[in-house]
Formats: sequence, C-alpha cells, structure tokens
Amino acid sequence: MKQKLTSSVQTILLLALTAVSLMGQSYPGKPKIIRCHSLEKETFSCWWKPGSDGGLPTNYTMFYSKDSEEKIYECPDYQTSGPNSCYFDKNHTNPWTTYNITVIATNEIGSNISDPQYVDVTSIVQPDAPVNLTVETKTSASITNLWAKWSPPPTADVRANSHVYHYELRLKTEGMEEWETIPVGVQTQYNVIKVQPGAKYVVQVRCMLDLGKWSEWSSERHIQIPKRQSPPEKPTIIKCRSPEKETFTCWWKPASNGGYPINHTLLYSKEGEEQVYECPDYKTAGTNSCYFDKKHTSFWTIYNITVKATNEMGSNVSDPHYVDVTYIVQPDPPVNITLELKKSVNRKPYLILTWSPPPLADVRSGWLTLEYELRLKPQEGEEWEVRMLQVFTRWCFLVDKILSARPFLHADYAYSRCASLNNSVCFLEYRVKDMVVWIVVGVLSSLICLIMSWIMILKGYR
Ligand SMILES: *[C@@H]1O[C@H](CO)[C@@H](O)[C@H](O)[C@H]1NC(C)=O
Ligand SMILES: *[C@@H]1O[C@H](CO)[C@@H](O)[C@H](O)[C@H]1NC(C)=O
Ligand SMILES: *[C@@H]1O[C@H](CO)[C@@H](O)[C@H](O)[C@H]1NC(C)=O
Ligand SMILES: *[C@@H]1O[C@H](CO)[C@@H](O)[C@H](O)[C@H]1NC(C)=O
Ligand SMILES: *[C@@H]1O[C@H](CO)[C@@H](O)[C@H](O)[C@H]1NC(C)=O
Ligand SMILES: *[C@@H]1O[C@H](CO)[C@@H](O)[C@H](O)[C@H]1NC(C)=O
Ligand SMILES: *[C@@H]1O[C@H](CO)[C@@H](O)[C@H](O)[C@H]1NC(C)=O
Ligand SMILES: *[C@@H]1O[C@H](CO)[C@@H](O)[C@H](O)[C@H]1NC(C)=O
Ligand SMILES: *[C@@H]1O[C@H](CO)[C@@H](O)[C@H](O)[C@H]1NC(C)=O
Ligand SMILES: *[C@@H]1O[C@H](CO)[C@@H](O)[C@H](O)[C@H]1NC(C)=O
Repeated sequence: MKQKLTSSVQTILLLALTAVSLMGQSYPGKPKIIRCHSLEKETFSCWWKPGSDGGLPTNYTMFYSKDSEEKIYECPDYQTSGPNSCYFDKNHTNPWTTYNITVIATNEIGSNISDPQYVDVTSIVQPDAPVNLTVETKTSASITNLWAKWSPPPTADVRANSHVYHYELRLKTEGMEEWETIPVGVQTQYNVIKVQPGAKYVVQVRCMLDLGKWSEWSSERHIQIPKRQSPPEKPTIIKCRSPEKETFTCWWKPASNGGYPINHTLLYSKEGEEQVYECPDYKTAGTNSCYFDKKHTSFWTIYNITVKATNEMGSNVSDPHYVDVTYIVQPDPPVNITLELKKSVNRKPYLILTWSPPPLADVRSGWLTLEYELRLKPQEGEEWEVRMLQVFTRWCFLVDKILSARPFLHADYAYSRCASLNNSVCFLEYRVKDMVVWIVVGVLSSLICLIMSWIMILKGYR
C-alpha cells in the first residue's frame, strides 16, 4: 500500500516535472569523469566535467566501489581538490586495487549517471616535477664534466620520502632542436661526461613513480661550459721591421688563450752572446709588439728572438726568429703628397706630383738612401703601372686624351724625361678629358716598398 502510494506520488511528481521540462527544464546532462591523478601513490583525486544542468540547480555525487568488494561508497572529500572533484585521502586509497568510479548528476527533475571510470592508483601516479635542479661543471685531467643535482618533488607528507622516484635527465646545446635524454635511475644526481668545451647547455629532469606517468619536465637550467683549459698555443712572430735602420720593432700574433688570461714575454739573445734579455719596451709600438730603441739596436748582429706565452696552466714558446737589422729596413711611406695642375706656356695642362720623404728617415746624412716608386692606373683599371723614380721627390706628366685609351703610353716618356732632370718641373705633351687616375707614390729601400694611395679627379680639361 505504502509502496503504491510512493509510486503514485512519484508518477505525479514525474508528470509535474515533465510539465516543468516543457518550460525548458529537464534532466541534467551526463557528467563525464575527465581525469584521475595521484601525485605520490598515497592519495588521489578525480575530476569531472558536468553535463548541461537542465536549467535547474544540480547536485553531483560521486560513488565508487573497489574490485574485491560489493559495497558502494560515496566520495569522502569534495573540497580538497577544488570544484567538481573528489579527493581520496590515505585512508581511502589502496594501491593495487581497481576503483570503479561514477558520478551522478541530480536536479529536481531527475538524475543522470556518468560512464564508469576504472582506476588503479599505481597507473595514475604522475608526480610533480623534481625541484631545485642545479648544474655545475667539474674539470679534471682537462676533461670537463657536467654535474646535475636535484630534489624529489615536494609532497604534503614527509613520509613521502619513502617513495622511490625514477628520474630522466635531458640536455641539449643552446639553439639546437634535439634533446638528448638520459635515464638516470633512482639517484638524484648525474654526471654527464665529456661535454663540449665552450658550449652552452640547457638541462631538465623529470620523475616517475612505479608504473605511473612521467612528471612534467622541471624548469630549465642553463650553463656555459668553460673553454678548454690548457697551456696556450704557440705564439707566432709576424715580422720585425726597422723604419730607418736605427731602431726596430717586432710584432707577434698572440696565442689562443686556453681558457685563461695570458701573458706574453719577448726574449732575445745576440749572436755570440750567452745572455738572454727581455724586451726593453712593450708599450711604444702598441699591443703585441716590442720596440728596440737606438740603445738596444746593433748592426751586423743577428738577434735570436722568441716570444713566450704564459697562462696558469703553463707556457709555450714561439719558434725563434732571427733578425739582422740591416735586412729589415722598411721605411714609412712618403708624406705631404701633393698634385697640382698647371698650364704650360702653350696652354697645355700638366700635373706636378711632389712629396716629402718619411719623417724618420735620415736622408741627408746618407745613412739611408731612399728610392721612390710610383704606380698608377685608371680608376677602373686592374693593373698598376709601376714607375721607378729613384731619388727624386717630384714627378710630372701632361694631361692628354690619349691617357684614357692607352693610359700610360706617354708616362714612360714622362718618366724618362723627368728622370733625366733633377727635381725641377718637366713638360709633357698630352691632355686628358674627364677622367680619374689613381696615383700612388711609394718609397723603395732595400727591395721593400710601402705604398700609399691617393686619388685625383680631373675634369673639364682639353
Ligand atoms: C543523460 O544525458 C545525456 C546526454 O547528456 C542525455 O542524452 C540523456 O537523455 C540523459 N539521461 C536522462 C535520463 O535524462
Ligand atoms: C585514518 O584512519 C585512522 C584510523 O582509522 C585515523 O586515526 C586517522 O585520523 C585517519 N586519517 C584521516 C586523514 O582521516
Ligand atoms: C561499476 O559501477 C557501475 C555503477 O555503480 C556499475 O553499473 C558497473 O557494473 C560497475 N562495473 C563493474 C565492472 O563492476
Ligand atoms: C543539493 O544539495 C543541497 C545540499 O545538500 C540540498 O539542500 C539540495 O536539496 C540538493 N538539491 C537536489 C536537487 O538534490
Ligand atoms: C629547494 O630550495 C629551497 C630554497 O633553496 C629550499 O627552501 C627547499 O627546501 C628546497 N627543496 C628541497 C625539496 O630540497
Ligand atoms: C704549444 O702549442 C702547440 C700548438 O700551437 C701545441 O701543439 C703544443 O702542445 C703546445 N705546447 C704545450 C707545452 O702546451
Ligand atoms: C735561439 O733561442 C732559443 C730560445 O732561447 C734557443 O732555443 C735556440 O737554440 C737559439 N738559437 C740559436 C741559433 O742560438
Ligand atoms: C701576467 O702579468 C700580470 C702583471 O704583470 C701578473 O699580475 C699576472 O700574474 C701574470 N699572469 C700570468 C698567468 O703570468
Ligand atoms: C708636411 O707638411 C706640413 C704642413 O704643410 C709641414 O709642417 C711638415 O714639415 C711637412 N713634412 C715634411 C716631412 O716635409
Ligand atoms: C737641375 O736642373 C736645372 C734645370 O735643368 C739646372 O739648372 C740645375 O743646374 C740642375 N741642378 C743639378 C744639381 O743638376
């Protein structure tokens, strides 16, 4: 009787609710369990997504049963893991047990039940990423290793230290796409042997519990591996040069540094002497050079010069460089070069080129005799025409149309004419229209020459 009553009450209620549903209200939609997750295998949480609410306030209830039991339990804690979740504390979590979990959505009209979700805690364990990753380099026997250390993910429970995490480490050089992943095992440190000196690395670790899932990768650590640390390479003496046969300077190419600051010392001995001297002046001629002033310059003597590069790890000595000052004279270039356009009596234009000897050269004393070399080419030309000028510091040529076609046909003539004169002006018979000529004057001495560029633009002469 009572049952009948209940049944008819239900029927009435149902009819009423159906009427309500016609006004846009209905059963709730089917909820869906979206994720179950354990951080440390001792507790776990499940989250669901509500279906439509049927236009009415809807309550959600989670039920579960365990594989070995008939009994059905309700979720012990809807709060801890946030909205639409259920948290299973330790007392409600059994590993190696399959949970059958469902969510029921209920509103005034009725209820709807989710598909069951079967969960084994061991397989849904996904720990947080390891923390406090540090990386450093250690060098021994000139091989650099990379040491990484980290801590297990923090868990709410101190006893969680009893967990055994497995770790994986990955690294790559900065800018590369591909990671190298290394299984580490259960230790919380790893030594990557033989990293590339001078490279920058990025390192991350992640962890896993039992058969669960890998955690996210930890935050990145960047490290610069120092350059290989070793004695310096051999320095090289590039050249020695005297501008005027009274002083000289030697230059060297510094050694690559082996990862440490480096010092260079220049040592020399003179032919027939045992004594080894150090460079008298590292400053005057600039970096990586040694200047020998008059006091330290002797003639008809062979200098045996070496450069020694030293860093913390040791030193390395250049090959010896043997120098006789007489043979390394190379004057500085001439100075005060001028080019002047003049017109002759018969109104044909000509050019006068003048220059002065380089300031250091003691020309007057006859200690040094400078010879000059002049070379010229049209601006677009490839090949230089070289003219020996001997000791004169003046040269001239006429400006002629013909110069553009056969540029220096007449220059030969000019040369012989000028050379036959002393430093006075000479006149030549040609002209040039709108053209550009490169003129370079050099000083020649002891078969070595230096050149200096100079440009002249001629316009509008006929
Ligand atoms: C449960 O929800 C699904 C989809 O959300 C819906 O198709 C079904 O009719 C609902 N069941 C009931 C009893 O209202
Ligand atoms: C777990 O159960 C034990 C004993 O049944 C109880 O003392 C303890 O308070 C419970 N812990 C939690 C978090 O409910
Ligand atoms: C899981 O639970 C649901 C709802 O309680 C039930 O319908 C289903 O048969 C259960 N599955 C198993 C394998 O016990
Ligand atoms: C939902 O739960 C609240 C609080 O437990 C209760 O007062 C209300 O009647 C429930 N609503 C439905 C539709 O079950
Ligand atoms: C990580 O480092 C922070 C700060 O150095 C420290 O407070 C924390 O205890 C460390 N965590 C672990 C798990 O070692
Ligand atoms: C000196 O440098 C050369 C290469 O420049 C290298 O082969 C040699 O090992 C170095 N010597 C020392 C003692 O490091
Ligand atoms: C030049 O000097 C170097 C280093 O001091 C020495 O090893 C070498 O034997 C010397 N050469 C001569 C020819 O004396
Ligand atoms: C290089 O020279 C400086 C100054 O003379 C000195 O302080 C430093 O110790 C030297 N370094 C080496 C590697 O010899
Ligand atoms: C170069 O010209 C300048 C100024 O015209 C003059 O002071 C200097 O003495 C000249 N140099 C030489 C070496 O003739
Ligand atoms: C230089 O040439 C001029 C003109 O030809 C001449 O008068 C003079 O004597 C010459 N001087 C010398 C030193 O040859």
